[in-house]
Parts: sequence; structure tokens; C-alpha cells
Amino acid sequence: MKGIILAGGLGTRLYPITKVITKQLLPIYDKPLIYYPLSVLMLANIRDILIISDKENIEKIKILLGNGEILGISISYEVQEKPRGIAEAIIIAKDFIEDEFALILGDNLLYGHGLPDILRNTKPPTIFLYYVNDPKRYGIAHIKEDRIVLIEEKPKRPKSNLAIVGLYYLDRFALEVASSLKPSKRNELEIVDVLKAYLNEGKLNYRILGRGFTFIDCGTFDSMLEASIFISTIEKRQGLKIGCIEEVAYRMGFITREQLVELSKNYKNSGYGEYLLKIVRES
Ligand code: TTP
Repeated sequence: MKGIILAGGLGTRLYPITKVITKQLLPIYDKPLIYYPLSVLMLANIRDILIISDKENIEKIKILLGNGEILGISISYEVQEKPRGIAEAIIIAKDFIEDEFALILGDNLLYGHGLPDILRNTKPPTIFLYYVNDPKRYGIAHIKEDRIVLIEEKPKRPKSNLAIVGLYYLDRFALEVASSLKPSKRNELEIVDVLKAYLNEGKLNYRILGRGFTFIDCGTFDSMLEASIFISTIEKRQGLKIGCIEEVAYRMGFITREQLVELSKNYKNSGYGEYLLKIVRES
């Protein structure tokens, strides 16, 4: 399976910061936000990844991640001229998509015991659902007798508190649907319209990520702060990092021990390199 990270957007809820830099490059505690969705795809054993962002930021992301070779993966890039919606990413990725793919939003942080297994053992088309306190802010799915019966974007009167996580397991059918979509009232190609098309075909599966999981979309100052505190708390307690792409590459067998040692030399003063060496010593 291939993977796509959508890392553009205006980030208006984070102005003025995001006037000059995409939120995906802002820190969540000790690493850039984009490391978290990237590590999720890598844990799903996806090694062929397309990153989509705007013209200016894509150059910065390239400096950070390059072609992925040092992580034992392949990263390619496409520009989204304007943030015309999440479903537009599927159209932009048309030459990249073969059949099944995972699309993840660049500001989504997902974490929990057993998540890698779930990611590897789930087949498209599937969406992931998460209980939230404020469903009005999300696309939501309403489940009845174990089936999705309704999908709604930011409903005024939500029928469920199950939010659709920004990780979508899709296939070529999504490309067909996205290509024929009309922009919504807010002038975007909506991912929920793609999901509704799957639902109408009776094809959409779901998995609920229950209490043991953390899902934070880092689109506001508060959610970024909460995510940073969460990551810092767990990392300090356990001495293990979350979303450390070099560690994931090593544990997934994408790179060797020697390569990890080499990578550690790039980060001398932040403790990040020391952490990679600790992983080498302890494994
Ligand atoms: P949003 O949080 O919905 O939008 P945004 O990032 O522009 O932020 P704001 O609402 O504050 O203006 O986007 C979710 C994710 O998808 C985020 O990582 C940015 C990305 N995105 C794109 O890359 N292109 C797009 O056209 C859209 C709508 C979002």
C-alpha cells in the first residue's frame, strides 16, 4: 500500500504564525508535527509516500525529509496550488495512486498501544473513528447495528460523538469520486463526500479507536499545547519517544543499526541523537 500526507492548508486558526510557515513544521514538543503522521504511515509498513503541500512550504519539507532514502523509504512531493480541500489531494496524487492507499492529514497525531497492528491489518476502504467531546468540530459517523448509517461534516446537531480521524484507507474508487466532485459551500472538495460515495456503494468499513488511543488534530494553539504536553509527559515517563521517524525506520527494519548510528550524528546538542544511540545500545 502507498501513503499520502496532506501537509498544506492555510492554518488560519494559527495566524499569525502560519502566515510564514505551515503548521506541519511547527514543533509538537521535541519534533516537527509532520513526524507524527509520517511515523504512523511507516508503522503501517508503508514505504512509498507522497507529501503534498503548498509551493513555499514544500521546499522546506524537502530540506527536512529529502527523498526518504536515509529512512529506508521513498518520499516524493507534489504541490497543491491552493487549499481547495482534502479530497483534492486524491486528484493531485492521481499518478501516484495505483490501487489501495492511506491518506493522512499532516496535523493529525495518533498514538496508542496496538495501533501498528491495527494499521497493518486493516484493509481499505476503511475509516477510523474516535470518541470526542465536541463532535460539532468534526466529520462524524453514526453507527447503527454495527454499520455506518450516516456521515456528516461538522453537524449542528450531531447524532453521534464518533469523529472521523484524519486517516483514510481508500482505493482507486476514491479517485473516480474526487474527480467528479463539485466544490462545497466553503469552496473545498470535501473528503466526507468521497466517504459518502463509498457508503452509498455499501463499501465503507470502520474501526473504532477506543479509550486506549490518543487522537489530537493539532490545528489550534490549545490542541498544539495539549499535544506537546502529552508527548512530553509520556516521553519523560518512559524514556521512549513518540513519532521518532529514525527509530521507527530502525524498528521496522527499513534501516540497519549502522545507519541509525550515522543518523544520530546529525543531532548533537538536542538530545535527539543521544536518544537514537540509546536505541542502538538497548536493542
Ligand atoms: P484544516 O485544519 O481543515 O485546515 P487548515 O490547515 O487550512 O487550517 P485552518 O482551518 O486553521 O485554516 O486542514 C486539515 C489538514 O489538511 C491540515 O494538515 C492541512 C491539510 N490541508 C491541505 O493540505 N490542503 C487543503 O486544501 C486543506 C483543506 C487542508
